[in-house]
Amino acid sequence: MTGGPDAQSERRPVIACSALTKTYDLGVEKVRALRGVTFSIARGEFVAIMGASGSGKSTLANLLGALDTPTSGELMIDGQSVAGLSSDALARLRNHDIGFVFQQFNLLPRMTALENVMLPLLYAPRGRKNGAVDARARLEEVGLGRRMDHRPAQLSGGQQQRVAIARALINDPRIVIADEPTGALDTKTSQDIMELFLKLHAEGLTIILITHEPDIAAYAGRLLRFSDGELVEDLTRRPQNQGRERARS
Ligand SMILES: Nc1ncnc2c1ncn2[C@@H]1O[C@H](COP(=O)(O)OP(=O)(O)OP(=O)(O)O)[C@@H](O)[C@H]1O
Ligand SMILES: [Mg+2]
Repeated sequence: MTGGPDAQSERRPVIACSALTKTYDLGVEKVRALRGVTFSIARGEFVAIMGASGSGKSTLANLLGALDTPTSGELMIDGQSVAGLSSDALARLRNHDIGFVFQQFNLLPRMTALENVMLPLLYAPRGRKNGAVDARARLEEVGLGRRMDHRPAQLSGGQQQRVAIARALINDPRIVIADEPTGALDTKTSQDIMELFLKLHAEGLTIILITHEPDIAAYAGRLLRFSDGELVEDLTRRPQNQGRERARS
């Protein structure tokens, strides 16, 4: 989505982790949430992450999004070792290169859809001149052009998730990490949200999507399965649910 990367940056993995571990130290007990995970993700991939509850999926998502730091191992994002980044560079990574979408939408209840989408702009170094214009365009893009002044409580779950996706996109990230984005939605609404992710993927976004549902994972071209903090399956396959969007347009 960000323009003009050179040929070398096109080829290099957008995410590469090597022997990545995360241990939560609870004093009395240590929880080994990730036990040495190695894989990489190429630019423009659409990857689903599955695994039983407690297998380390959200822990991994937090590391990949630089929201948390690994206990050991190496994580490279866009060819840069995250461990070597200054706090400014980390903040830039979180705010500009990566967009997050969560199961519970995480919208601010007193703000309108438009204001929620504009929130990340507050953290932009020099603010942004056309913030409202950009936020409106993002809301149009996710199909909410006519709901911009509604507050979250005045929107359906699917609409709230669309607002959250528009917010994740406002700074033109290269990667979107979605942690069970359809977990709180019914089947039909989930499919609509997945069609939206497919569209964003077709536009070049790298998408990492955590889900418990095989039907949802089937939208992705690659499946990573975790068990007990370990990567136990890495499957590339032909996405099963693609084509509806294309058939319509
Ligand atoms: N902040 C934390 N402090 C201590 N332990 C944690 C913390 N976050 C997660 N854990 C533990 O780490 C392990 C992995 O948790 P994680 O949230 O990554 O699992 P998950 O695969 O996302 O599960 P779910 O499908 O239920 O969301 C679990 O045993 C969990 O209890
Ligand atoms: Mg989780």
